[in-house]
Amino acid sequence: MSAPVAELRGVSLALGATPVLEDVSLRIEANDYLAILGPNGGGKTTLLKLLLGLHTPDRGQVQVLGDSPRRARGRVGYVPQHVRFDLEFPIRVQDVVLMGRLGRRSGARIRAGDRDAAHAALERVEMQELAARPIGALSGGQLQRVLIARALSQQPELLLLDEPTASLDERIGRSVWELFEELSQEMAVVVVSHDIGAISRYVHGVACLNRRLHAHPSKELTSDILEATYGCPVDLLAHGHPHRVLTEHGEP
Ligand SMILES: Nc1ncnc2c1ncn2[C@@H]1O[C@H](COP(=O)(O)OP(=O)(O)OP(=O)(O)O)[C@@H](O)[C@H]1O
Ligand SMILES: [Mg+2]
Repeated sequence: MSAPVAELRGVSLALGATPVLEDVSLRIEANDYLAILGPNGGGKTTLLKLLLGLHTPDRGQVQVLGDSPRRARGRVGYVPQHVRFDLEFPIRVQDVVLMGRLGRRSGARIRAGDRDAAHAALERVEMQELAARPIGALSGGQLQRVLIARALSQQPELLLLDEPTASLDERIGRSVWELFEELSQEMAVVVVSHDIGAISRYVHGVACLNRRLHAHPSKELTSDILEATYGCPVDLLAHGHPHRVLTEHGEP
C-alpha cells in the first residue's frame, strides 16, 4: 500500500477542560475526495487544525505528506471557516490570491508565474472579472470564492476546506463542489460541510465526527450513520432526489 497523504493514528485531544477528539484514526489517500460531517462542536475544525500543525495531539500521531504537519504546511491549502480580514484594508482580490503564492516560501518577491497562477485560480472559481475589486467590496459568497482561489493558487498536494460552500448560492455552490471533484484528480481534497445533499452527490467518502470518528469508504449515507453522528434525525437528500429517510423528531 502506498504512503497516505495524511494520517491520524489514535489521536486524542482536549482543549482546556473539553475532550474534543477521542481515539481518532483516519487515512487520507492521494486523490481522495472526502467529506467530514458532524454536529457543531463535534471537532471538525479541530481535526483540520491538527493536520495543519496548529494543534498538537495529547495522544496519538499525525503525519502529513510523510512529514510532521508543521513542516508540511506549505504544501497544504487551507480555506478557514472564519476569516478575520480587515475588510477596510485597501487590498485587491488579485493580491489576496497572490498572497497564497507567497505563503509557500520565504521572501516576499513575486516571481514569474505567480500572477498567472493567481489569475488561473481566480478563473477556476469564476472570479476573474472582479480581480481588481477591493476585498472589502465583495459579498460573503464572493469572498469565500476568493479564499478558495487563494488556497488553489499554491497548487497544494492536500486541500482542506472548512465549510467553504456555506454562503454560496446554489449555482456557484454546485460548480464549486464539481471543481473540488476535478481537483481531487490532482490532490487530496477534504471538505467539512453540513450540506448533506451535496455530500451524497459529489464526494467519494464520508467521515462522521462527533468527538469520535467513523469513516465510511463510500458516500452512502444511511440514516443510521447520520443518527449516530448527529444524535437526532436528519433530512437526507440523495442523488438529487429529495426523500425522507428519517422520521421527524418525536415521531415513532
Ligand atoms: N481554543 C479552544 N479552547 C477551548 N475549547 C475549544 C477551543 N477551540 C475549540 N474548542 C472546543 O472544541 C470543541 C470542538 O470545536 P470545533 O471548532 O472543532 O468544532 P466543529 O466541529 O468545527 O464545530 P462547527 O460545526 O460549529 O464549526 C467545541 O466544544 C469547542 O468549544
Ligand atoms: Mg468548525
